[in-house]
Amino acid sequence: MDSRELLKLAEGARLNAYVPYSKFRVGAALLTSDGKVYTGCNIESASFGATNCAERTAIFKAISEGERKFVKLAVASDNSEKNQPTWPCGICRQVIVEFADDMQIITGSSKGDIIEINIKDLLPHYFAKGDF
Ligand code: THU
Repeated sequence: MDSRELLKLAEGARLNAYVPYSKFRVGAALLTSDGKVYTGCNIESASFGATNCAERTAIFKAISEGERKFVKLAVASDNSEKNQPTWPCGICRQVIVEFADDMQIITGSSKGDIIEINIKDLLPHYFAKGDF
């Protein structure tokens, strides 16, 4: 699946976001090495720290279904409509390297500019298994 198509799925997934507090909808679409896609949205909580980002929702859905090999993760938000990228937060970056230290991150807008960057460039010198 090409990046524009994956980003389109992330844009669609954002419509399911549960965001009564921030009102900021985020969606993610995760491509596995065998071509399957898992989507996710952000899910907020009245106890704000319990909020789960769209990226982690997609990854945790996939992991809990037994998936372990991932290729690309597309991230979209309401900002995609303004042709602006949405970058994974620091916690999500750490979770991404846990499961795919070569993941391609795709962001931007499926109708406009697309940015592709490797997770290694988003989270240099990361702490991982093998470091302790
Ligand atoms: N959020 C995500 O879902 N992913 C990101 O990469 C950035 C932030 C969510 C968390 C919260 O629901 C809202 O965006 C505002 O921070």
